[in-house]
Amino acid sequence: MLTGDRPAGRLHLGYYFGTLQNRARLQDLAVNTFMLIVDYQVLADRDVAENLSGNVEDLVLDYLAVGLDPAKSTIYSHSAVPALNQLLLPFLSLVSVAGLGRNPTIKDEIKHSQQSAVSGLMFTYPLHQAADMLFCKSNLVPVGQDQLPHLEFTRTIARRFNRRYGVGGDVFLEPEALLSSAPLLLGTDGGKMSKSRGNAIALADGADETARLIRGAKTDSIRHITYDPLVRPEVASLILLAALCQKLDPQDVAEEVGSGGSGELKKVVTESVNEHLAPIRARRAELGRDRSHLRDILKQGNQHANPIAERTLGQVREAMGTSY
Ligand code: TRP
Repeated sequence: MLTGDRPAGRLHLGYYFGTLQNRARLQDLAVNTFMLIVDYQVLADRDVAENLSGNVEDLVLDYLAVGLDPAKSTIYSHSAVPALNQLLLPFLSLVSVAGLGRNPTIKDEIKHSQQSAVSGLMFTYPLHQAADMLFCKSNLVPVGQDQLPHLEFTRTIARRFNRRYGVGGDVFLEPEALLSSAPLLLGTDGGKMSKSRGNAIALADGADETARLIRGAKTDSIRHITYDPLVRPEVASLILLAALCQKLDPQDVAEEVGSGGSGELKKVVTESVNEHLAPIRARRAELGRDRSHLRDILKQGNQHANPIAERTLGQVREAMGTSY
């Protein structure tokens, strides 16, 4: 299993319930797990990545806090695995410029980009992401819905490479997406939850900050609380958050609050989030005291990933007739 994260800030609750929990579960089922910190890809939508190494360390810290274990999972970064990056060159020969431009996720990211011009990195990053997934022959990729075009693209690249060069047998597997069954959590403003939009609760936020964010969350004017994601999306998302934290059915949470209204709902949500996150936050604070330990974990992961990438690149060069 492989998945990747951009080191662009601390991870939030939507991410935790959407994918991190699932990864920790798979890791504990002894699935061979790779967690890639995409420190090149983070440059796709900005000129300079501020505080890059600090963000990389924070990501490692979030991983550890939620139970990802470097003894079981390989945690490593793009920039430290040269053979992975070299796969990009043969892959570039397998796609047309028009084909790159058709990717709907890229189109959306270009729209929200902080840059005035689209960089070559933005345009080609799905191909880089294909290299991420293919370098270790991953067959399972836990991702959100927005990443499905990248997975389909990666499968196409694997097929094209195999067809063009795999005379002696296929070099690449076609990975499958693993979608989380947890419904989507909204940000406190009712939009997509994102740290950069100021509407997300981070794993690392304190209990008071969590209370403040939930107090300001958007609700609606109907007093009686009911769970109705289609008609009352903001209220439903708050109910869902409490339900996920307490491992309860959202309907039951809604009935419990009932005529208590949104004030009571927010109280319940704040308490359940803070209670659920307390051990994670304590672990995070404890582990965060030793930043050099975080670096060591990355070094160890890089050391594990490099020979795997070299082996795959060796097979690619062999298939292409370029292993001199
Ligand atoms: N593009 C993904 C994101 O923005 C991150 C990512 C990079 C990724 N490489 C990956 C995800 C490989 C899954 C597999 O969140």
